[in-house]
Amino acid sequence: MSSTNPHRHPACTAVVGLQWGDEGKGKIVDLIAPSFDAVVRYNGGANAGHSVVVKGERYALHLVPSGILYPGKLSVIANGVVVDPEVVLREVDTLSSRGVDVSGLIISDRAHVVMPYHKAEDELRERTLSQAGNVPTGGEAIGTTKRGIGPCYADKAHRATAVRVGDLLRPDALHRRLQHICALKNAYLCALGGEKTYTPEELLDWARPLGARLAPCIRDTTYLLHDLLAEGKRVLFEGANAALLDVDHGTHPFVTSSSTTVLGIPAGTGVPGSRIGSVIGVVKAYSTRVGNGPMLTEQVNAIGDRIRERGREYGTTTGRPRRVGWLDLVAVRYSAMLNGVSSLALMLLDVLSGLDELKVCTSYRLEGGAVTDRFPPDADVLARAQPVYETLPGFREDVTEARTRADLPGAARAYVELVERAVGVPVSHVSVGPDRAQTIVG
Ligand code: GDP
Ligand code: IMO
Ligand code: MG
Repeated sequence: MSSTNPHRHPACTAVVGLQWGDEGKGKIVDLIAPSFDAVVRYNGGANAGHSVVVKGERYALHLVPSGILYPGKLSVIANGVVVDPEVVLREVDTLSSRGVDVSGLIISDRAHVVMPYHKAEDELRERTLSQAGNVPTGGEAIGTTKRGIGPCYADKAHRATAVRVGDLLRPDALHRRLQHICALKNAYLCALGGEKTYTPEELLDWARPLGARLAPCIRDTTYLLHDLLAEGKRVLFEGANAALLDVDHGTHPFVTSSSTTVLGIPAGTGVPGSRIGSVIGVVKAYSTRVGNGPMLTEQVNAIGDRIRERGREYGTTTGRPRRVGWLDLVAVRYSAMLNGVSSLALMLLDVLSGLDELKVCTSYRLEGGAVTDRFPPDADVLARAQPVYETLPGFREDVTEARTRADLPGAARAYVELVERAVGVPVSHVSVGPDRAQTIVG
Protein backbone atom coordinates (compact mmCIF):
# COMPACT_ATOMS: atom_id res chain seq x y z
CA MET A 1 0.00 0.00 0.00
CA SER A 2 1.30 3.50 -0.72
CA SER A 3 2.11 5.78 2.21
CA THR A 4 -0.60 8.15 0.97
CA ASN A 5 -3.37 5.53 1.15
CA PRO A 6 -5.84 6.98 3.68
CA HIS A 7 -6.53 3.55 5.14
CA ARG A 8 -2.94 2.66 5.91
CA HIS A 9 -2.97 4.43 9.29
CA PRO A 10 -5.77 4.53 11.89
CA ALA A 11 -7.76 7.79 12.22
CA CYS A 12 -5.74 8.84 15.27
CA THR A 13 -2.05 8.14 14.81
CA ALA A 14 0.95 9.46 16.71
CA VAL A 15 4.57 9.93 15.65
CA VAL A 16 6.99 10.07 18.58
CA GLY A 17 10.75 10.04 19.11
CA LEU A 18 12.20 7.09 21.03
CA GLN A 19 15.66 8.48 21.85
CA TRP A 20 16.93 11.96 22.81
CA GLY A 21 15.35 13.89 19.96
CA ASP A 22 16.24 14.60 16.33
CA GLU A 23 15.35 11.08 15.21
CA GLY A 24 13.67 12.37 12.05
CA LYS A 25 10.10 12.84 13.35
CA GLY A 26 9.55 15.78 10.99
CA LYS A 27 10.38 13.63 7.97
CA ILE A 28 7.95 10.86 8.98
CA VAL A 29 5.15 13.30 9.83
CA ASP A 30 5.60 15.02 6.45
CA LEU A 31 5.66 11.64 4.71
CA ILE A 32 2.38 10.33 6.10
CA ALA A 33 0.56 13.66 6.53
CA PRO A 34 -1.38 13.22 3.23
CA SER A 35 -3.38 10.47 4.99
CA PHE A 36 -4.64 12.93 7.61
CA ASP A 37 -6.84 16.02 7.82
CA ALA A 38 -4.94 17.64 10.69
CA VAL A 39 -1.44 17.46 12.15
CA VAL A 40 -1.26 18.38 15.84
CA ARG A 41 1.67 19.39 18.06
CA TYR A 42 0.88 18.58 21.71
CA ASN A 43 4.07 19.29 23.68
CA GLY A 44 7.28 21.28 23.82
CA GLY A 45 7.93 24.54 22.04
CA ALA A 46 10.64 26.14 19.96
CA ASN A 47 13.18 23.76 21.54
CA ALA A 48 12.07 21.39 18.78
CA GLY A 49 13.61 21.58 15.33
CA HIS A 50 11.94 19.32 12.78
CA SER A 51 13.51 19.20 9.32
CA VAL A 52 11.59 18.30 6.23
CA VAL A 53 13.28 17.93 2.84
CA VAL A 54 11.19 17.92 -0.32
CA LYS A 55 12.86 17.77 -3.75
CA GLY A 56 16.07 19.17 -2.30
CA GLU A 57 14.32 22.05 -0.46
CA ARG A 58 14.93 21.96 3.31
CA TYR A 59 12.41 23.39 5.78
CA ALA A 60 13.27 23.72 9.51
CA LEU A 61 10.13 23.83 11.65
CA HIS A 62 10.17 24.70 15.34
CA LEU A 63 6.56 25.35 16.32
CA VAL A 64 4.56 24.95 13.13
CA PRO A 65 3.50 21.29 12.68
CA SER A 66 5.30 19.35 9.96
CA GLY A 67 2.11 18.87 7.89
CA ILE A 68 2.17 22.52 6.85
CA LEU A 69 3.74 21.77 3.47
CA TYR A 70 0.42 20.32 2.23
CA PRO A 71 -1.82 23.24 1.20
CA GLY A 72 -4.85 23.77 3.41
CA LYS A 73 -4.08 20.94 5.83
CA LEU A 74 -4.97 21.89 9.40
CA SER A 75 -1.78 22.44 11.41
CA VAL A 76 -2.76 22.66 15.05
CA ILE A 77 -0.62 23.89 17.94
CA ALA A 78 -2.59 22.47 20.86
CA ASN A 79 -2.85 23.52 24.50
CA GLY A 80 0.15 21.48 25.72
CA VAL A 81 2.64 23.50 23.65
CA VAL A 82 4.50 26.56 24.93
CA VAL A 83 4.34 29.15 22.16
CA ASP A 84 6.93 31.82 21.50
CA PRO A 85 4.80 34.21 19.42
CA GLU A 86 7.81 35.79 17.74
CA VAL A 87 9.15 32.39 16.64
CA VAL A 88 5.82 31.20 15.30
CA LEU A 89 5.29 34.43 13.34
CA ARG A 90 8.84 34.33 11.98
CA GLU A 91 8.22 30.76 10.84
CA VAL A 92 4.94 31.71 9.22
CA ASP A 93 6.63 34.62 7.39
CA THR A 94 9.52 32.44 6.21
CA LEU A 95 7.21 29.69 4.99
CA SER A 96 4.95 32.22 3.22
CA SER A 97 7.93 33.85 1.53
CA ARG A 98 8.86 30.39 0.18
CA GLY A 99 5.37 29.95 -1.26
CA VAL A 100 3.94 27.68 1.45
CA ASP A 101 0.21 28.08 2.18
CA VAL A 102 -0.02 28.64 5.96
CA SER A 103 -3.77 29.23 6.08
CA GLY A 104 -4.28 25.93 7.98
CA LEU A 105 -2.39 27.07 11.09
CA ILE A 106 -4.43 27.10 14.31
CA ILE A 107 -3.16 27.86 17.82
CA SER A 108 -4.91 26.92 21.06
CA ASP A 109 -6.10 29.78 23.24
CA ARG A 110 -4.94 27.61 26.16
CA ALA A 111 -1.36 27.13 25.00
CA HIS A 112 1.08 29.04 27.20
CA VAL A 113 3.12 31.99 25.97
CA VAL A 114 6.91 32.02 26.22
CA MET A 115 7.52 35.58 27.39
CA PRO A 116 10.81 37.48 26.98
CA TYR A 117 11.62 37.00 30.68
CA HIS A 118 11.32 33.22 30.29
CA LYS A 119 14.25 33.21 27.89
CA ALA A 120 16.24 35.49 30.22
CA GLU A 121 15.42 33.16 33.13
CA ASP A 122 16.47 30.07 31.15
CA GLU A 123 19.81 31.72 30.34
CA LEU A 124 20.43 32.89 33.93
CA ARG A 125 19.47 29.54 35.48
CA GLU A 126 21.81 27.71 33.12
CA ARG A 127 24.61 30.18 33.90
CA THR A 128 24.10 29.71 37.64
CA LEU A 129 23.94 25.92 37.33
CA SER A 130 27.05 25.79 35.17
CA GLN A 131 28.96 27.45 38.02
CA ALA A 132 27.88 24.74 40.48
CA GLY A 133 29.37 21.26 40.90
CA ASN A 134 32.06 20.14 38.48
CA VAL A 135 32.59 23.43 36.61
CA PRO A 136 35.08 22.16 33.97
CA THR A 137 32.52 19.63 32.68
CA GLY A 138 29.59 22.03 32.54
CA GLY A 139 28.69 22.03 36.24
CA GLU A 140 25.06 21.18 36.95
CA ALA A 141 23.69 22.85 33.81
CA ILE A 142 21.09 20.88 31.84
CA GLY A 143 22.30 22.21 28.52
CA THR A 144 18.89 23.58 27.55
CA THR A 145 18.11 25.21 24.23
CA LYS A 146 17.61 28.50 26.15
CA ARG A 147 14.27 28.95 24.42
CA GLY A 148 12.50 29.64 27.75
CA ILE A 149 10.79 26.23 27.76
CA GLY A 150 11.39 25.21 31.40
CA PRO A 151 10.54 28.62 32.90
CA CYS A 152 7.32 28.82 30.83
CA TYR A 153 6.14 25.35 31.92
CA ALA A 154 7.11 26.26 35.51
CA ASP A 155 4.82 29.30 35.32
CA LYS A 156 2.04 27.10 33.93
CA ALA A 157 2.36 25.07 37.14
CA HIS A 158 2.70 28.26 39.26
CA ARG A 159 -0.57 29.49 37.66
CA ALA A 160 -0.62 33.12 38.91
CA THR A 161 2.38 34.04 36.76
CA ALA A 162 1.24 32.23 33.62
CA VAL A 163 0.26 33.94 30.36
CA ARG A 164 -1.84 31.97 27.87
CA VAL A 165 -2.26 32.63 24.18
CA GLY A 166 -5.88 33.71 24.78
CA ASP A 167 -4.57 36.43 27.15
CA LEU A 168 -2.86 38.11 24.18
CA LEU A 169 -6.36 38.95 22.91
CA ARG A 170 -7.31 40.72 26.18
CA PRO A 171 -4.68 43.45 26.66
CA ASP A 172 -6.44 45.14 29.59
CA ALA A 173 -6.65 41.94 31.64
CA LEU A 174 -3.09 41.06 30.59
CA HIS A 175 -1.87 44.48 31.75
CA ARG A 176 -3.34 43.84 35.21
CA ARG A 177 -1.71 40.39 35.45
CA LEU A 178 1.62 41.79 34.32
CA GLN A 179 1.80 43.99 37.44
CA HIS A 180 2.37 41.09 39.84
CA ILE A 181 4.16 39.02 37.18
CA CYS A 182 6.78 41.77 36.77
CA ALA A 183 7.20 42.18 40.52
CA LEU A 184 7.91 38.47 40.97
CA LYS A 185 9.99 38.02 37.82
CA ASN A 186 12.17 41.07 38.39
CA ALA A 187 12.98 39.96 41.93
CA TYR A 188 13.92 36.49 40.70
CA LEU A 189 15.94 37.66 37.69
CA CYS A 190 17.88 40.15 39.84
CA ALA A 191 18.60 37.42 42.41
CA LEU A 192 20.13 35.35 39.58
CA GLY A 193 22.36 38.28 38.63
CA GLY A 194 20.26 39.49 35.72
CA GLU A 195 20.67 43.10 34.69
CA LYS A 196 17.44 43.52 32.74
CA THR A 197 14.12 44.07 34.47
CA TYR A 198 10.71 44.31 32.82
CA THR A 199 7.79 46.74 33.09
CA PRO A 200 4.16 45.78 32.44
CA GLU A 201 3.99 48.51 29.81
CA GLU A 202 6.95 47.30 27.77
CA LEU A 203 5.66 43.71 27.89
CA LEU A 204 2.24 44.88 26.81
CA ASP A 205 3.80 46.83 23.94
CA TRP A 206 5.57 43.61 22.96
CA ALA A 207 2.48 41.42 23.32
CA ARG A 208 -0.20 43.62 21.72
CA PRO A 209 0.97 43.53 18.07
CA LEU A 210 1.87 39.84 18.32
CA GLY A 211 -1.63 39.06 19.65
CA ALA A 212 -3.20 41.13 16.88
CA ARG A 213 -1.29 39.20 14.20
CA LEU A 214 -2.00 35.80 15.74
CA ALA A 215 -5.70 36.54 16.46
CA PRO A 216 -7.10 34.91 13.29
CA CYS A 217 -5.31 31.62 14.20
CA ILE A 218 -6.37 31.46 17.87
CA ARG A 219 -9.12 28.94 18.64
CA ASP A 220 -10.44 26.47 21.21
CA THR A 221 -8.54 23.51 19.78
CA THR A 222 -10.07 20.96 22.18
CA TYR A 223 -13.54 21.33 20.65
CA LEU A 224 -12.00 21.72 17.21
CA LEU A 225 -10.27 18.31 17.49
CA HIS A 226 -13.33 16.59 18.95
CA ASP A 227 -15.51 18.08 16.20
CA LEU A 228 -13.07 16.80 13.56
CA LEU A 229 -13.08 13.31 15.06
CA ALA A 230 -16.88 13.32 15.32
CA GLU A 231 -17.01 14.12 11.57
CA GLY A 232 -14.80 11.09 10.89
CA LYS A 233 -11.73 13.20 10.10
CA ARG A 234 -8.21 11.88 10.60
CA VAL A 235 -5.71 13.36 13.05
CA LEU A 236 -1.94 12.88 13.26
CA PHE A 237 -0.18 13.80 16.51
CA GLU A 238 3.41 15.03 16.13
CA GLY A 239 5.57 14.50 19.20
CA ALA A 240 8.35 16.97 19.89
CA ASN A 241 11.57 16.21 21.78
CA ALA A 242 11.56 12.50 22.68
CA ALA A 243 10.85 9.80 25.24
CA LEU A 244 14.21 9.92 27.01
CA LEU A 245 13.72 13.68 27.49
CA ASP A 246 10.28 13.20 29.08
CA VAL A 247 9.90 15.15 32.32
CA ASP A 248 8.62 12.06 34.19
CA HIS A 249 10.09 9.11 32.33
CA GLY A 250 13.33 10.47 30.86
CA THR A 251 16.84 10.74 32.25
CA HIS A 252 15.83 13.22 34.93
CA PRO A 253 17.05 15.90 35.62
CA PHE A 254 18.59 16.04 32.11
CA VAL A 255 15.23 16.23 30.39
CA THR A 256 12.88 18.82 28.96
CA SER A 257 9.83 20.09 30.87
CA SER A 258 6.94 18.40 29.06
CA SER A 259 5.38 14.98 28.57
CA THR A 260 6.98 14.01 25.30
CA THR A 261 5.52 10.52 24.87
CA VAL A 262 1.99 9.57 23.77
CA LEU A 263 1.13 9.93 27.46
CA GLY A 264 1.31 13.70 26.81
CA ILE A 265 -1.31 13.64 24.06
CA PRO A 266 -4.45 13.51 26.23
CA ALA A 267 -3.32 16.34 28.52
CA GLY A 268 -1.75 18.30 25.68
CA THR A 269 -4.75 18.19 23.33
CA GLY A 270 -7.86 17.14 25.26
CA VAL A 271 -8.17 14.00 23.10
CA PRO A 272 -8.30 10.90 25.33
CA GLY A 273 -5.60 8.28 24.92
CA SER A 274 -8.21 5.64 24.09
CA ARG A 275 -8.69 7.34 20.71
CA ILE A 276 -5.09 6.75 19.60
CA GLY A 277 -5.09 3.80 17.23
CA SER A 278 -1.45 3.61 16.21
CA VAL A 279 1.91 4.91 17.35
CA ILE A 280 4.94 5.14 15.09
CA GLY A 281 8.14 5.24 17.14
CA VAL A 282 10.93 7.05 15.32
CA VAL A 283 14.43 5.67 15.94
CA LYS A 284 17.70 6.86 14.53
CA ALA A 285 19.92 3.94 13.45
CA TYR A 286 22.46 5.18 16.03
CA SER A 287 22.17 7.51 19.04
CA THR A 288 22.51 11.26 19.34
CA ARG A 289 21.98 13.62 22.22
CA VAL A 290 22.25 17.40 22.55
CA GLY A 291 22.86 18.89 25.96
CA ASN A 292 24.06 17.20 29.12
CA GLY A 293 23.13 13.92 30.77
CA PRO A 294 24.16 10.28 30.52
CA MET A 295 24.49 8.57 27.14
CA LEU A 296 26.08 5.18 27.65
CA THR A 297 26.92 4.40 24.04
CA GLU A 298 28.54 7.79 23.28
CA GLN A 299 31.60 7.55 21.00
CA VAL A 300 34.03 10.40 21.63
CA ASN A 301 36.39 9.14 18.95
CA ALA A 302 36.89 8.85 15.20
CA ILE A 303 33.74 6.72 14.78
CA GLY A 304 31.63 9.33 16.57
CA ASP A 305 33.18 12.09 14.45
CA ARG A 306 32.58 10.15 11.26
CA ILE A 307 28.91 9.53 12.06
CA ARG A 308 28.47 13.21 13.08
CA GLU A 309 29.85 14.44 9.75
CA ARG A 310 27.99 11.92 7.56
CA GLY A 311 24.74 12.47 9.46
CA ARG A 312 25.17 16.27 9.60
CA GLU A 313 24.57 15.93 13.32
CA TYR A 314 24.38 19.59 14.25
CA GLY A 315 21.26 20.91 16.02
CA THR A 316 18.38 22.21 13.89
CA THR A 317 17.52 24.68 16.67
CA THR A 318 20.84 25.70 18.23
CA GLY A 319 23.46 24.49 15.73
CA ARG A 320 25.27 22.67 18.57
CA PRO A 321 27.25 19.56 17.53
CA ARG A 322 25.23 16.56 18.66
CA ARG A 323 26.84 13.89 20.82
CA VAL A 324 26.94 10.65 18.82
CA GLY A 325 27.03 6.97 19.75
CA TRP A 326 25.95 3.43 18.90
CA LEU A 327 22.30 2.42 18.93
CA ASP A 328 21.11 1.75 22.49
CA LEU A 329 18.45 -0.94 22.26
CA VAL A 330 17.90 -1.03 26.03
CA ALA A 331 16.80 2.59 25.85
CA VAL A 332 14.75 2.13 22.66
CA ARG A 333 12.93 -0.89 24.10
CA TYR A 334 12.01 1.15 27.18
CA SER A 335 10.75 4.05 25.06
CA ALA A 336 8.77 1.69 22.82
CA MET A 337 7.13 0.24 25.94
CA LEU A 338 6.22 3.67 27.33
CA ASN A 339 4.71 4.72 24.03
CA GLY A 340 2.99 1.44 23.21
CA VAL A 341 4.45 1.71 19.74
CA SER A 342 2.80 -0.17 16.89
CA SER A 343 5.70 0.13 14.47
CA LEU A 344 9.14 1.66 14.15
CA ALA A 345 10.55 4.09 11.62
CA LEU A 346 14.29 3.39 11.45
CA MET A 347 16.03 6.55 10.27
CA LEU A 348 19.40 7.59 8.83
CA LEU A 349 20.44 4.03 8.00
CA ASP A 350 22.51 5.46 5.11
CA VAL A 351 24.77 7.23 7.61
CA LEU A 352 26.12 3.89 8.91
CA SER A 353 27.38 2.84 5.48
CA GLY A 354 31.16 2.51 5.25
CA LEU A 355 31.84 1.24 8.78
CA ASP A 356 33.61 -2.14 9.10
CA GLU A 357 31.43 -3.22 11.98
CA LEU A 358 28.35 -1.95 13.76
CA LYS A 359 27.71 -2.21 17.47
CA VAL A 360 24.38 -2.17 19.27
CA CYS A 361 23.95 -2.05 23.02
CA THR A 362 21.69 -4.88 24.17
CA SER A 363 22.10 -4.71 27.98
CA TYR A 364 23.76 -2.68 30.73
CA ARG A 365 26.21 -3.74 33.41
CA LEU A 366 25.17 -1.76 36.49
CA GLU A 367 27.57 -0.55 39.17
CA GLY A 368 28.16 -3.66 41.28
CA GLY A 369 28.20 -5.96 38.24
CA ALA A 370 24.55 -6.96 37.72
CA VAL A 371 23.53 -7.13 34.06
CA THR A 372 20.09 -5.83 33.12
CA ASP A 373 18.04 -5.28 29.99
CA ARG A 374 15.88 -2.70 31.82
CA PHE A 375 16.52 1.02 31.46
CA PRO A 376 17.20 2.86 34.73
CA PRO A 377 16.08 6.40 33.84
CA ASP A 378 17.67 7.95 36.95
CA ALA A 379 20.62 9.91 35.57
CA ASP A 380 22.96 8.99 38.44
CA VAL A 381 22.33 5.24 38.20
CA LEU A 382 22.57 5.34 34.43
CA ALA A 383 25.81 7.32 34.44
CA ARG A 384 27.50 4.60 36.49
CA ALA A 385 26.41 1.73 34.21
CA GLN A 386 28.40 0.28 31.29
CA PRO A 387 26.99 -0.74 27.90
CA VAL A 388 27.17 -4.38 26.78
CA TYR A 389 27.45 -4.61 23.00
CA GLU A 390 26.61 -7.04 20.25
CA THR A 391 28.74 -6.58 17.11
CA LEU A 392 27.41 -6.97 13.57
CA PRO A 393 29.14 -6.79 10.19
CA GLY A 394 29.00 -3.36 8.58
CA PHE A 395 28.07 -2.53 4.98
CA ARG A 396 29.98 -0.44 2.46
CA GLU A 397 27.32 0.08 -0.23
CA ASP A 398 25.53 3.39 -0.72
CA VAL A 399 21.92 2.71 0.31
CA THR A 400 20.43 6.13 -0.47
CA GLU A 401 18.75 4.84 -3.65
CA ALA A 402 17.17 1.78 -1.95
CA ARG A 403 13.38 1.86 -2.20
CA THR A 404 12.56 -1.68 -1.04
CA ARG A 405 14.13 -3.85 1.65
CA ALA A 406 15.41 -6.15 -1.09
CA ASP A 407 17.50 -3.23 -2.43
CA LEU A 408 19.48 -3.12 0.84
CA PRO A 409 22.74 -5.05 1.20
CA GLY A 410 22.43 -8.14 3.40
CA ALA A 411 24.26 -6.59 6.37
CA ALA A 412 21.96 -3.55 6.35
CA ARG A 413 18.90 -5.82 6.19
CA ALA A 414 20.29 -7.87 9.08
CA TYR A 415 20.68 -4.65 11.10
CA VAL A 416 17.03 -3.71 10.49
CA GLU A 417 15.90 -7.23 11.42
CA LEU A 418 17.97 -7.16 14.62
CA VAL A 419 16.23 -3.93 15.67
CA GLU A 420 12.82 -5.50 14.99
CA ARG A 421 13.71 -8.57 17.03
CA ALA A 422 15.26 -6.68 19.92
CA VAL A 423 12.41 -4.19 20.28
CA GLY A 424 9.72 -6.74 19.43
CA VAL A 425 7.99 -4.32 17.04
CA PRO A 426 7.97 -4.36 13.21
CA VAL A 427 9.87 -1.70 11.28
CA SER A 428 7.30 0.00 9.00
CA HIS A 429 9.67 2.59 7.49
CA VAL A 430 13.39 2.57 6.78
CA SER A 431 14.81 5.98 5.90
CA VAL A 432 17.90 6.12 3.70
CA GLY A 433 18.23 9.86 3.15
CA PRO A 434 16.64 13.14 4.23
CA ASP A 435 14.32 13.51 1.25
CA ARG A 436 10.67 12.49 1.43
CA ALA A 437 11.37 10.08 -1.44
CA GLN A 438 14.31 8.34 0.27
CA THR A 439 12.13 5.98 2.26
CA ILE A 440 11.42 2.25 2.24
CA VAL A 441 7.82 1.69 3.32
CA GLY A 442 7.03 -1.76 4.73
P1 GDP B 1 13.36 15.65 14.37
O1 GDP B 1 13.62 16.70 15.39
O2 GDP B 1 13.09 14.32 14.99
O3 GDP B 1 12.30 16.02 13.36
O4 GDP B 1 14.73 15.47 13.56
P2 GDP B 1 15.68 16.66 13.00
O5 GDP B 1 15.04 17.22 11.81
O6 GDP B 1 16.06 17.59 14.09
O7 GDP B 1 16.99 15.85 12.67
C1 GDP B 1 16.99 14.82 11.73
C2 GDP B 1 17.99 15.20 10.63
O8 GDP B 1 18.24 14.07 9.83
C3 GDP B 1 17.46 16.26 9.67
O9 GDP B 1 18.53 17.03 9.20
C4 GDP B 1 16.85 15.43 8.56
O10 GDP B 1 16.79 16.12 7.31
C5 GDP B 1 17.83 14.30 8.49
N1 GDP B 1 17.31 13.01 8.04
C6 GDP B 1 16.10 12.44 8.28
N2 GDP B 1 16.08 11.18 7.80
C7 GDP B 1 17.29 10.95 7.26
C8 GDP B 1 17.90 9.82 6.65
O11 GDP B 1 17.33 8.75 6.52
N3 GDP B 1 19.19 9.97 6.23
C9 GDP B 1 19.88 11.11 6.37
N4 GDP B 1 21.13 11.16 5.93
N5 GDP B 1 19.35 12.20 6.96
C10 GDP B 1 18.08 12.11 7.41
P1 IMO C 1 13.28 17.69 18.60
O1 IMO C 1 11.77 17.82 18.63
C1 IMO C 1 17.05 17.34 20.76
C2 IMO C 1 17.10 18.82 24.91
C3 IMO C 1 18.05 19.99 25.05
C4 IMO C 1 18.45 19.80 26.50
C5 IMO C 1 17.17 19.34 27.17
C6 IMO C 1 16.38 20.44 27.83
O2 IMO C 1 13.92 18.48 17.55
O3 IMO C 1 13.68 16.26 18.63
P2 IMO C 1 14.96 22.51 26.95
O4 IMO C 1 15.36 23.67 26.10
O5 IMO C 1 13.85 21.70 26.38
O6 IMO C 1 14.71 22.90 28.37
O7 IMO C 1 16.27 21.56 26.98
O8 IMO C 1 16.38 18.77 26.13
N1 IMO C 1 16.09 18.96 23.82
C7 IMO C 1 16.24 18.44 22.60
N2 IMO C 1 17.25 17.75 22.04
N3 IMO C 1 15.92 17.56 20.06
C8 IMO C 1 14.88 18.21 20.61
O9 IMO C 1 13.71 18.38 19.99
C9 IMO C 1 15.02 18.71 21.94
N4 IMO C 1 14.22 19.40 22.77
C10 IMO C 1 14.88 19.54 23.91
O10 IMO C 1 19.14 19.89 24.17
O11 IMO C 1 19.40 18.76 26.60
MG1 MG D 1 15.11 18.07 15.91
